[in-house]
Amino acid sequence: MTPRSTEEERLQAGGAARARADRTPGGIPEPDSTTPGGTMVDGFGRTVRYLRISVTDKCNLRCVYCMPEEGLEWLRRDEILSYEEITRIVEVMAPMGLTRVRLTGGEPLVRKDLPDLVGQLSRVPGIRDISLSTNAVLLAPLAQELRAAGVNRINVSLDSLRPERADRIARRPDVLNRVMEGLAAAESAGFDPIKINVVLMRGENDDEVADFAALTRERPWHVRFIEVMPTEANLGLSAAQTMTCGEALDLIGRVDALEPVEGPEGNGPAAYYRFPGAAGTIGVITPMSHNFCGACNRMRLTASGQLRPCLFGSIETPLRDPLRRGEDLVPLIEETLRIKPEKHLLVQGSASGSGGLIALSQTGG
Ligand code: 5AD
Ligand code: SF4
Repeated sequence: MTPRSTEEERLQAGGAARARADRTPGGIPEPDSTTPGGTMVDGFGRTVRYLRISVTDKCNLRCVYCMPEEGLEWLRRDEILSYEEITRIVEVMAPMGLTRVRLTGGEPLVRKDLPDLVGQLSRVPGIRDISLSTNAVLLAPLAQELRAAGVNRINVSLDSLRPERADRIARRPDVLNRVMEGLAAAESAGFDPIKINVVLMRGENDDEVADFAALTRERPWHVRFIEVMPTEANLGLSAAQTMTCGEALDLIGRVDALEPVEGPEGNGPAAYYRFPGAAGTIGVITPMSHNFCGACNRMRLTASGQLRPCLFGSIETPLRDPLRRGEDLVPLIEETLRIKPEKHLLVQGSASGSGGLIALSQTGG
């Protein structure tokens, strides 16, 4: 914890009341408000400070565990929040206790002028951390500009280190080269930490677990293995090819001993390990084999402006139309927080617990 967050905790008690006084009748805080953070605590005592913002439902890839080959039915332009609208929602939530945002998609870099949004968000008082989740295919030419605009951390999805296989999983050509260029650009632009997310699929990339782990010996990257979460779009795959992170750790443990370590900043739901002396770490994200919902600190904002307290399940609160009508969003946000579910009800091989979610790209992963 930095001294700044300690200060934040001390100020929390009085923050909410001051935040209310700062609001205009339209529910939007004054742009020059320096109100310290309030606290968003859900019904299970979890403090929410983190919002994942999907800036588009579109993607330039079609990863087999995520989207159907033909894509999804994309949102219309007027259904999607503008950058100004996203920023206004963050301006409302910051005085309530929001301090960190992550931009996701779909693929966030397919939306035009993303650095403009980053710049707007970085000027919201109270927001002290902006991160990005990307497939990195379009990252290389944008990395410097994003960093300069205020993105400090970056997560890259990459499921294979073998060119043909990376293309087959993403169902698009020349993926690996471009991702590697993106990673190199991210490193020179100074993003820290850089995390690489690998979705585990038996018979698809399980023979590369050790290769991915080996990357961390030389590179200061944090490679994180993720268990496939079932959605409507990947049911066939998730039934046949699921693999737990425990199995991945066993495979890596055969190569060399792993020591548990503290993760990089913003470590969220992952547990981290390291090969002795390695530059980077190995993380596991276990939505299926271990329920990690008890430590959940986040909500999600979809591209169409639905506030979701949980990735899965059917609870969502439309913020877009109330915002466009100039209504106060605070009661809607408070109510969504209050009904944040205790945990997801996912079952491997079944779509029942996902609440009809077709793909994670719809809710921002
Ligand atoms: N299960 C697990 N991970 C998924 N991702 C996308 N869909 C799924 C799924 N069904 C991952 C992406 C990315 C992160 C945001 O979520 O690979 O790394
Ligand atoms: Fe696109 Fe990410 Fe889904 Fe792959 S996992 S299709 S990169 S949104």
